[in-house]
Amino acid sequence: MTPIESTVHNPEGSRRVIVTKELPGSRWLDYLIAAGCRVEVATTQEVLSKGDILSWIGDRCDGAIGQLTESWDPEVFAALAEAGGTAYSNYAVGYDNVDVPGATRAGIPVGNTPGVLTETTAEMATALTFAAGRRVVEADAFMRGGRYEGWLPTLFMGKRFHGGTVGIVGAGRIGAAYARMLVEGHKMNLVYFDLHPNAELESFVADYAEFLEAHGEAGVTCRRAETLEELLATSDIVSIHTALTDETRHLIGAPELTAMKDDAILVNSSRGPVVDEVALVEHCQNHPLFTVGLDVFEDEPAMKDGLAELDNVVIVPHIASATTWTREGMATLAAANVAALLQGQPVWDGDDVLPFLSGDLVPAAPSVINASDLNLI
Ligand code: DGY
Repeated sequence: MTPIESTVHNPEGSRRVIVTKELPGSRWLDYLIAAGCRVEVATTQEVLSKGDILSWIGDRCDGAIGQLTESWDPEVFAALAEAGGTAYSNYAVGYDNVDVPGATRAGIPVGNTPGVLTETTAEMATALTFAAGRRVVEADAFMRGGRYEGWLPTLFMGKRFHGGTVGIVGAGRIGAAYARMLVEGHKMNLVYFDLHPNAELESFVADYAEFLEAHGEAGVTCRRAETLEELLATSDIVSIHTALTDETRHLIGAPELTAMKDDAILVNSSRGPVVDEVALVEHCQNHPLFTVGLDVFEDEPAMKDGLAELDNVVIVPHIASATTWTREGMATLAAANVAALLQGQPVWDGDDVLPFLSGDLVPAAPSVINASDLNLI
């Protein structure tokens, strides 16, 4: 096992915290240093293996900030607890890479970073929607390839959004933000599929419809689909915003793709395995009018055979949350989680995490997934 190369901040700190990737911004370090931490930050861009993480934890480690690309399983949490660890935070809002029950059994609280990715991720989902539906990447390659010989009535015809139907699978924070962008900006009707009704989203769309009608425009509608099939069959755009769980793995496979309109747009900015990527490649090969925007992949960073050759698919490397504000905010929340937990501070009880991002350091952990199981709230 090669030792992990790292940069050490505040070497005299009495609490050892490991951070498995370099993080943007500096406020995150302020939180950890103010909590008396010696902060070791891995400098490699390669994904740390479980063996790497176990050996880096070593005999003494108080806390850790890890990445969505790493597997934080029960063995790793047991090793962290054994090394005296009492805090972990994922540098992500999603935590399908973390075995939360295993962490709870080891007595380790698991933090995540909600509230700073919402609009940013929804904006990228919107960008992918437009890029796919209006064939932006294909047309860009056409121009750069010197193939444009003059305006034509039928060149790169795409899909009109205005007045169509957008379907979202998962109406949590990011799904709802994306829905609002398409409803408000493009006057689309909304259908959503979620185990729980989103009353706030429904009332927002109802109020917006009234506003539009008061201004002499056609209203918009919002409906919670009873089944996924109903959403797929009626939507011009389907955007996926569900967490990856055993229930949502391959939620969109061959039958679901077949249920969609032949010229629909499918966008995935949640987790790759929610879509059966082999089935998707085959569907796109057979349905040239069907367009797709993907930020995430089933076997990230790899893509299934054939995906990269498809003109009707736009692909970006899991960058939906990649704005400076959001990524610095994620770093701050992850560090604030670890710093607060190490100091025995309470778990924040509000949804609004903005106070953590500026002004005085807030003496609380912004978001701890297993807080109630560990009697922290
Ligand atoms: C997350 O935080 O879960 C995102 O996937 C990172 O972009």
